[in-house]
Amino acid sequence: MSIETSTFDVQTIRKDFPILEKARPHGKSLVYLDNAASNQKPQAVIDAITHYYTHQNSNVHRGIHHLSQVATLHYDAVREKVRDFFNAPSAQEIVFTSGNTDAINLVAQSYGGAFLSEGDEVVITEMEHHSNIVPWQMICEKTGATLRIAPINDDGEVIAEEYETLLNEKTKFVSIVYVSNALGTVNPVKEMTRLAHDAGAAVLLDAAQAAPHMRIDVQDLDCDFLTISPHKMCGPTGIGALYGKAELLDKMPPFKGGGDMILSVTFDETIYNEVPYKFEAGTPNIAGVIGLGAAIDYMMGIGLDQIEAHEAELLAYGTKILQQVDGLRMIGTANHKAGVLGFVLEAAHPHDIGQILDGEGVAIRAGHHCAQPVMKHFGIPATARASLSLYNTKEDLDALVVALGNVNEMFG
Ligand code: ALA
Repeated sequence: MSIETSTFDVQTIRKDFPILEKARPHGKSLVYLDNAASNQKPQAVIDAITHYYTHQNSNVHRGIHHLSQVATLHYDAVREKVRDFFNAPSAQEIVFTSGNTDAINLVAQSYGGAFLSEGDEVVITEMEHHSNIVPWQMICEKTGATLRIAPINDDGEVIAEEYETLLNEKTKFVSIVYVSNALGTVNPVKEMTRLAHDAGAAVLLDAAQAAPHMRIDVQDLDCDFLTISPHKMCGPTGIGALYGKAELLDKMPPFKGGGDMILSVTFDETIYNEVPYKFEAGTPNIAGVIGLGAAIDYMMGIGLDQIEAHEAELLAYGTKILQQVDGLRMIGTANHKAGVLGFVLEAAHPHDIGQILDGEGVAIRAGHHCAQPVMKHFGIPATARASLSLYNTKEDLDALVVALGNVNEMFG
């Protein structure tokens, strides 16, 4: 679908994001291209959080008074919105967490702690974010399981044959990133999940960098678990959501103990609450959940297919014009990509690039992007990374290229 023939109007969308006009970094107009780190929030999300604190603030699942009932109603309604966003069969399969990292740790500690043992294998890929490496290292160390790594090629794609070779009867868990935060690679996760299931393994998909850019359908993917990072998809920080198949969540022990995750407590015995509450100990991030609900409404209101089409056009345009910059080498040239333009320049270190661009009002991220094994693969310490969101324009990418020209002039 061409964005010209759709109802998607990026200039109208930009007006929904007050910061795009109000922020004046170093007195310049903001060109925000650090969306993979965290994207901006539309007024509807800001208003929903303010409205909650102004009119509804109270604890949930605890009070018989009016405000608690209202807060509980709105809080619980968001679980249904997330179910719809994931196309999950049941809202019971949605667990609120403090973020994407927390969700992966929950699965690693709870599922891994209960079902992994010595001799078992866990498979991840070489392009994982640290949040999908370290939790598995920790649980492997605890259980005696072995972590196996599916390597990538120099375009930043998982080598399919190598991945398939790693899967065997010892493979008990496969945890893979849907879209790489450092490379932009969109992994063929449906096929990878099918292969893992054929080997008898359970599968987690880290969709932190996928959900902002494309439609997620957990039934079509048939993954066992899927995690998202709401603050990269117009929602607030400090909140996450985990999808897990009900029959697996039922079998898993709680990850954290405390209030709300129990049915009854005595000093002799505690009976845990049902799924998903069993995994939500303590007062939750209620305002965060309300904000997530508003973010999902906002994105679904625009249309996930429309967002994907708009960003695909931007990605193709950005890839083309970046290649015209002197001495620029793209890091991450997979056939199927989303959202991310990572690169290095011959003339300058990524941190210098980031700093000079900042002076022009162009916000990008420079560093290892919490994916040090990816940097090691390419033999570099860091990349500069421009990353896209639904409100970006071709003019943003033009501004990036002009600013990179300035970097080349300074360092060339
Ligand atoms: N994981 C986030 C990023 O890629 C923070 O920038």
